[in-house]
Amino acid sequence: MKEFARKQRDENRIVGLVPTMGALHPGHLSLIKQARQQCSSLVASIFVNPTQFGPSEDFAKYPRALPADSEKLENAGVQCLFLPEAKDIYPPKYSTYVDVEGLSERLEGRSRPGHFRGVSTVVMKLLQIVQPQFAYFGRKDAQQAAIISRMATDLNLDTEIEICPIEREADGLAMSSRNVYLQTGDRQSATVLHRSFQAAQTLLQNGSRDALSLQSAMHRVLKQESRAKVDYVEIVDAETFEPLTHINRKAYVLLAVKFGETRLLDNMLVDFSDTGELNVEL
Ligand code: PAJ
Repeated sequence: MKEFARKQRDENRIVGLVPTMGALHPGHLSLIKQARQQCSSLVASIFVNPTQFGPSEDFAKYPRALPADSEKLENAGVQCLFLPEAKDIYPPKYSTYVDVEGLSERLEGRSRPGHFRGVSTVVMKLLQIVQPQFAYFGRKDAQQAAIISRMATDLNLDTEIEICPIEREADGLAMSSRNVYLQTGDRQSATVLHRSFQAAQTLLQNGSRDALSLQSAMHRVLKQESRAKVDYVEIVDAETFEPLTHINRKAYVLLAVKFGETRLLDNMLVDFSDTGELNVEL
């Protein structure tokens, strides 16, 4: 992989990396589409990274779909599929980890201790191996994207971290490899997430900037679905992920909700133009 990437750079190609865990859906492919616009050599990786799964999480049953994934990547114009094995990424005696402090401990980090340490470590390794000019991550996992951006800045990496919009199903559900776990009834109920964001969006558009009012409105909508078990609904500064009480800068409205055993994440980006105009991205 290192040799291939070095050759691409030597031949003055702009190398882009799209790291994934496979079971590819249009959300992943949207990252590749954006990469294709900026890069002349595309590398995608598929690696179900054991260090980012907790002991009671779904590592063993995480969906794996290699032949179909490989075909999708080829059709999307990816030149190189990097498929490392766990024994190559974490050989015996492996003992180096990257920890992005603070950011990694909040929200998802609190619910999944050690998760982000596994993510930042594997992404650091992928970036070291491929040394791309650009690497692409989805805003679907906003906290992960913020942690990786922080790591790239803090460790003086030469890779630009690009954060791409959320790809959604027609009914608003954010695409995710884990959506296949949803029972039929839960899949229908999961549309409540999108409705809760729309309630928050309406409040924002009507001038509300109070985080608590937005959170309450979202909880009221989520309560309408008895199958939805809310883990958190939070409003945070988009860079530090510190909670906000008053929404007066770039912020994320984030939620994690469980349907049966399946935990879904989604978020909405709130931003303001230089003239103070509100911009909401679902
Ligand atoms: P995975 O869940 O496979 O996601 C790979 C990339 O696709 C991530 O950057 C994720 O945010 C993005 N993505 C997922 N669903 C999306 C959607 N609906 N719209 C846009 N982008 C979406 O995230 C991981 O893998 C891993 O943690 C990884 C970064 C590969 C490290 O192991």
